[in-house]
This record gives sequence, C-alpha cells and structure tokens, in this order.
Amino acid sequence: MVETYKRTSNPMMNRPVVKAELVEWMRSSQTQITGELAEVLKFAKENNIPVIPHETVIYFQMLLSLLQPKRILEIGTAIGFSALIMAQEVPNAEIVTIDRNPEMIELAKKNLGKYDHRNQIILKEGDAADILKELSGSFDVIFMDSAKSKYIEFLPIALDLLSENGVILMDDIFQGGEILTPIMEIKRNQRALERGLRKLFDEVLDNPKYLTSILPLGDGLLMIKKA
Ligand SMILES: C[S@@+](CC[C@H](N)C(=O)[O-])C[C@H]1O[C@@H](n2cnc3c(N)ncnc32)[C@H](O)[C@@H]1O
Repeated sequence: MVETYKRTSNPMMNRPVVKAELVEWMRSSQTQITGELAEVLKFAKENNIPVIPHETVIYFQMLLSLLQPKRILEIGTAIGFSALIMAQEVPNAEIVTIDRNPEMIELAKKNLGKYDHRNQIILKEGDAADILKELSGSFDVIFMDSAKSKYIEFLPIALDLLSENGVILMDDIFQGGEILTPIMEIKRNQRALERGLRKLFDEVLDNPKYLTSILPLGDGLLMIKKA
C-alpha cells in the first residue's frame, strides 16, 4: 500500500452524485481501458490513489480528439495515469504535469519511464503555486486535479497561461454534494476547501468574462473558457 493514501483515500470517490446504477452503467458500458494503462489503473485502485474515473477518461478522449491541443498543463500528476491517457489521445501534444508529493513523483517517474513512449510528458516537481510562475508559453488545455481549495488561487495564472481558445478543466468540484451544505455545518478541517470552491463558483459561474459549464462526471468537472 502506498503510504500517502493508506488512510486518506478520497471519500468522494465512493459518493457518486449521479444515481449509482447510472454511474456503474457508464463505467461498464463505455470502452474499457486495456493494455499498459490498465496496469497503471489497477495499481491506482489497489493502492487507493485517486485518479480520474472512467467516465472522465472517456470524456477527455472525446474532448482532446476534438480540440487537438498542442500543449496541455496538468496540476496533480499522482502516478501519471491521466497524463498518460492524454498523451495516448494526442500523440503530438506536449504535456507538462506538476506534483509536489515525493511518493507520487517517484511512482509517476517509473510509469512515465515505462509508458510515455513518445516522451511527451514533462514532470515538474514542486508546489504548483511556485511552478506555475516559472512556466512560459501558452497551453490549450489546463487540467487542475490537485488541492481543491487552491483552484481559485491558481485561476488567474492559469488564465494568463491559457491560449486564446483554450479551456481550463477542474476536477472534483461537487465534493459529493457538500458544496450545497452551509459552511458552518461542514467539518472544520474541510472548511478551507469548501470556502475556496465557493469563491471559485462566485468568480466563474455567472460572470460575462467566462464561459463555464459544469459536467456531472465523477465528482463534478468544471470547464472554463475566456468569453
Ligand atoms: C487526485 S490526484 C491526481 C490524479 C491524476 N490527475 C490522475 O487522474 O491520474 C491529486 C495530486 O495532486 C497533487 N497536488 C495537490 N496539491 C498540489 C499542489 N499545490 N501542487 C502540486 N501538486 C499538488 C497531490 O500530490 C496528488 O498527487
């Protein structure tokens, strides 16, 4: 068992916001992941490492196939599963992915060494708050899958790094539906996360500066584009 996730598996993974039978049906009826990446997924499941759920994988494949991004930025590599899925879908894209957890970085390096056959993926080690400031050029897709409280803090720099028609994707924004609970009724240790998400919603959900869309995939996927 990987140390970090032994006690801290994501409770939202098991709290689907869409009817459980429908989630199960989406996961079992859409094309399955096979081959090398199925091994990476198996390892993630066995070690309770949260990675994008199957319906999100399928959606990313569709979206990336339509957008054909040249550069993708990911915040939250974990063991490299989502980065490898994206690399497989757009073989000519460069993918920059950031993680700060040494244990995850070690596992990601192993997986990228084995499965990033076209050397598309650049792993940046450190806190995204620091790394984002060092990045240059623009990205056509920016995928945030890290600490949810920080999405709102990363948004301005992500917008600066976003290409003109680029899109920002943020995962796990429903928190199993807890975003609807009054803040004082939420466990103290969850409040920073919830406050961060609510600030994000206030900024992007009804603002003429952005086009935003919420997709009920996994624990909620938010898409933001400059209007
Ligand atoms: C949900 S996992 C990412 C899963 C991955 N995107 C996938 O689907 O295969 C979240 C990762 O974000 C990393 N993380 C969280 N906050 C971060 C930050 N501020 N900077 C860099 N990495 C961060 C954690 O170390 C963890 O490995």
